[in-house]
Amino acid sequence: MILLTGATGYIGSHTWLELLQAGQRVIGIDNFINSSPKVLARLEKLSGKKLEFLQGDVCDPVFLESVFQSFPIKGVVHFASLKAVGESYSNPLLYYENNISGLIALLQVMQKHSCHHFVFSSSACVYGDPDVSPVKEDADLKPENPYGQTKLMSEQILRDLEKSDSKWRVAYLRYFNPIGAHESGMIGEDPNGIPNNLSPLVARVAAGRMEELKVYGNDWETPDGTGVRDYIHVVDLARGHVKAVEHLLSGKPSLTVNLGTGVGYSVMDVIRAYEKVIGRPIPYRVTDRRPGDVALYYADPSLARDLLGWCAERNLEQMCADSWRWQSQNPMGYES
Ligand code: WQD
Repeated sequence: MILLTGATGYIGSHTWLELLQAGQRVIGIDNFINSSPKVLARLEKLSGKKLEFLQGDVCDPVFLESVFQSFPIKGVVHFASLKAVGESYSNPLLYYENNISGLIALLQVMQKHSCHHFVFSSSACVYGDPDVSPVKEDADLKPENPYGQTKLMSEQILRDLEKSDSKWRVAYLRYFNPIGAHESGMIGEDPNGIPNNLSPLVARVAAGRMEELKVYGNDWETPDGTGVRDYIHVVDLARGHVKAVEHLLSGKPSLTVNLGTGVGYSVMDVIRAYEKVIGRPIPYRVTDRRPGDVALYYADPSLARDLLGWCAERNLEQMCADSWRWQSQNPMGYES
């Protein structure tokens, strides 16, 4: 049985579905700090299975102990963490407490129950502003914001744990920029409050929930002057997690891999792709750069291909089409 923390979140919910469809038995936990319980009914409909779920906080050792007492957990996929870069600048203690203390509480209960297979939701943020792209896993690790620091520190904690006890097997998955939604339009990205990320903001402008998109600078050292990122479809990302779980459960060694497409797209590329999907212009205005932003980075995903037999299959147009289907079928997210 696989434990998913943060199971009703954007990436967690998509991974839950893919794990079920790959034949894995899953127990999900979440405290709904950045997700909706309405995901559960959607996932049951999509999977055709009864979900096993417990509401609780990954920072609560008593709750975690009860979970491990109740289920024969062989591996854990850890999504539960805060991930808003901007908020991590204004409230770093919240990020260190939730992301680091939560990880430690989880690892302690796993150790107590002899559960040593761990898939960690890391981030390309650990690279900071990479010197070159495509970025390889052995690039310098120099996060530029507290959120990225919590991801690097978490990796360090896990590597030290592995050195202390060879029974641990860890998959460090460094995500680039997840966007899109399941093709059904029934699950998708539904951030609480005002989104920070490009894709949900473009979707809201497209849906008329926001007047215009702010383009944070068009004077970057990039082909069209706007920021370039490696956008990866959330279903491709979820399937990378299924491969990582299967890799660890089959006794293969720990690994650190980038989960990206290897292709960089600019803000204008995303806007144009979205306009093609909805068949009308997306209003936008170029504004100043956003503090902490970098010009360009995208992944070298070859190691994930070689070690996991995984590669992203969906292109930018599919990401935007699936994102739009979710947005238009759920104008107010899960509260629609
Ligand atoms: C992408 C590009 C912006 C919004 C992400 C997420 C976070 C974390 C790190 C998880 C940039 C531009 C954006 C807008 C814009 N991921 N933009 N107008 O900055 O790569 O960071 O990765 O580990 O989820 O913060 O993603 O979507 O915020 O920005 O012009 O209204 O879009 O400048 O070039 P980013 P993003």
